[in-house]
Amino acid sequence: MQESSPAGRVEELRELLRKYDYSYYVLDDPQVADFEYDRLYAELKRLEEEHSELTTPDSPTRRVGGRPLEGFAQVAHGEPMLSLDNSYSEEELIEFDRRIARGLGEEGPFDYVAELKFDGLGVSLRYENGVFVQGATRGDGRTGEDVTANLRTVRSLPLKLKGENLSPPLPGLLEVRGEVYMTRSGLERVNAQRREAGEPEFANPRNSAAGSLRLLDSSLTAKRPLKLFIYQLLGAGWPGARPRFYSHSQVLSWLKEAGFPVNPNWCSCVGIKQVIGYCRRWAELREELDYNIDGVVVKLDHLDLRERLGRTSKAPRWAMAYKFAAEQARTRLLAIEIQVGRTGALTPTARLEPVFLAGTTVSNATLHNEDEIERKDIRVGDWVWIEKGGDIIPKVTAVDLKARPADSQPYRMPDSCPVCGSRAVREPGEVVRRCSNAACPAQVKERIRHFTSRGAMDIEGAGPALVDQVVEKDLVRDVAGLYTLNKEELAGLERMGEKSAENLLAGIEDSKRRGAARLLFALGVRHVGQTAAELLAARYGNLRALARASAEEIEAVEGIGPVIAASLAEFFSEPKNLELLDRLEAAGVDLGGEPAARPPEADSGPFAGRKFVLTGTLAGFTRQEAEELIKSRGGKLSGSVSAKTDAVIFGESPGSKLDKARELGIQLLDEEAFKKLLEEQPGG
Ligand code: IVH
Repeated sequence: MQESSPAGRVEELRELLRKYDYSYYVLDDPQVADFEYDRLYAELKRLEEEHSELTTPDSPTRRVGGRPLEGFAQVAHGEPMLSLDNSYSEEELIEFDRRIARGLGEEGPFDYVAELKFDGLGVSLRYENGVFVQGATRGDGRTGEDVTANLRTVRSLPLKLKGENLSPPLPGLLEVRGEVYMTRSGLERVNAQRREAGEPEFANPRNSAAGSLRLLDSSLTAKRPLKLFIYQLLGAGWPGARPRFYSHSQVLSWLKEAGFPVNPNWCSCVGIKQVIGYCRRWAELREELDYNIDGVVVKLDHLDLRERLGRTSKAPRWAMAYKFAAEQARTRLLAIEIQVGRTGALTPTARLEPVFLAGTTVSNATLHNEDEIERKDIRVGDWVWIEKGGDIIPKVTAVDLKARPADSQPYRMPDSCPVCGSRAVREPGEVVRRCSNAACPAQVKERIRHFTSRGAMDIEGAGPALVDQVVEKDLVRDVAGLYTLNKEELAGLERMGEKSAENLLAGIEDSKRRGAARLLFALGVRHVGQTAAELLAARYGNLRALARASAEEIEAVEGIGPVIAASLAEFFSEPKNLELLDRLEAAGVDLGGEPAARPPEADSGPFAGRKFVLTGTLAGFTRQEAEELIKSRGGKLSGSVSAKTDAVIFGESPGSKLDKARELGIQLLDEEAFKKLLEEQPGG
């Protein structure tokens, strides 16, 4: 049934889409055809665009990510995010059970809940009046990073909780904790895309989840298949006394009812014996799951008993992690192959006789570096033990010395590059040996692959196969050479029709306007990742300005450390790298414009160095304009009010942030007061 008012229809659509999202992403049980879902979604999006006053942060349309951030704000955890004590054997679990009996002065059997231990990233989520308002990483346990924008894009995270029929009812303020993770199949898809784009693959789902959650551009996070399990409810803001939960199992059921994704495989156990049974079962079954677990978490069920036991500074006394042993296999080391990377680093890889291990057939393993090979005395022809941690590529952990062939020889890293034959040098203090020839085809290829890859200049059609060809045919010798390619040259390449040549040239043309941050990252300066590139582009605007800066100046940029600063200074002190910039610019590549936000002039003006929160709608500025005005005057912005907030600027229909600021006695600025301050510190 169609409601007549846009507001009514918008609410109706949101309810429907929330329900479909929940059944699809949490229950894995789609309720509606994609086509129908897309139709409803498009209708909601259109209505929200037409009636901007109706947009709310909990709308299903808000999961696509927003503007890139310059950095993450810090979030102090109200209650520290503790770790867990680890155990590795059944005996240790029995000892844990005895310790609990001693601590409580009671005999068992105790009621436990056994849960899977997800191998992801701990996060803490805050809800106000049932709406998701803030999410933070664990950080050091006391302070984490505000990754709200990225978490919003995680489809199984409820933006709005289900309040009906909940007992106890939803409190005004709620904090839960859980684990963000990537499924194995999701990681395979991501890695397949990265392979195609010539980007480095993620070693395991954990790294890829961590990397995705810490991207400054949430629209990129939105494309990563992240998921979430919630396993903890913190003391929440129920009116009056504590809620009447008496057990963790009751909490888990409540969390599920409220719409949180709770992993269904938890189990109530009476006594530690049943817990051990659960651990044995899941050590076997883990391979069948589509996500990595690294063990089981055992938790005392009754909350009053937990309270009596308390915690140490590091971990609760009422819980214990039981870690699975990594699975191992024994096989033959057939050869040690050397790969040459972008920076010339020679990396040894083990080629193995194929062997089945933890669900897959393995024929390669990492050997890390030459010191590691020497330390373990790994030789070609040896029988070796390999092990899979959470990683896709296993590692060689030990040699079966008893089975060593009599004629085996210690391995020696080559002292010349296996690709170009130049000297491979290991600098004092470094663990890797590098090919000394910057023009080595292996290095050139890797540098160009990186340059064209998706996170960098994103040149469509310039995949690894094309890069190999243009380097081998000597059409391109460095990244600037891409911009001089022409149709005739391309026509001579394999599998290159007229149409694909045109597309590639259009892709190359497009890439000229990616901006300073992407270009800097694309140049592949050692240690300069996407985040550092974004911070530096915001500070310097233009790569020429960055190239003129000294290491000390660069190090003064917030978020940039001495290693990155030194690496950049060295890079730009090379005449051939400056010449590369000249050639890129001559080819029409945009080296960047003005700095985005000048750092604050020391302590001058009412914005410099202060932290602001915006709430409600301002009449004279869009949200983005207001934010830029604040930032360009050296002010900082935060999504939530805390004791560290300096002032809250509020407009029409402000949210709960205004109430909170009042409670905390924080300076409140209406639009007029905000304008006055802007006049006090003009420009920026
Ligand atoms: S409970 C106070 N339950 O493991 C204890 N943690 O090694 C709160 N983890 O920091 C944690 N699965 O990030 C709990 N089912 C589970 C878990 C789990 C994974 C993570 C969590 C924690 C880390 C400790």
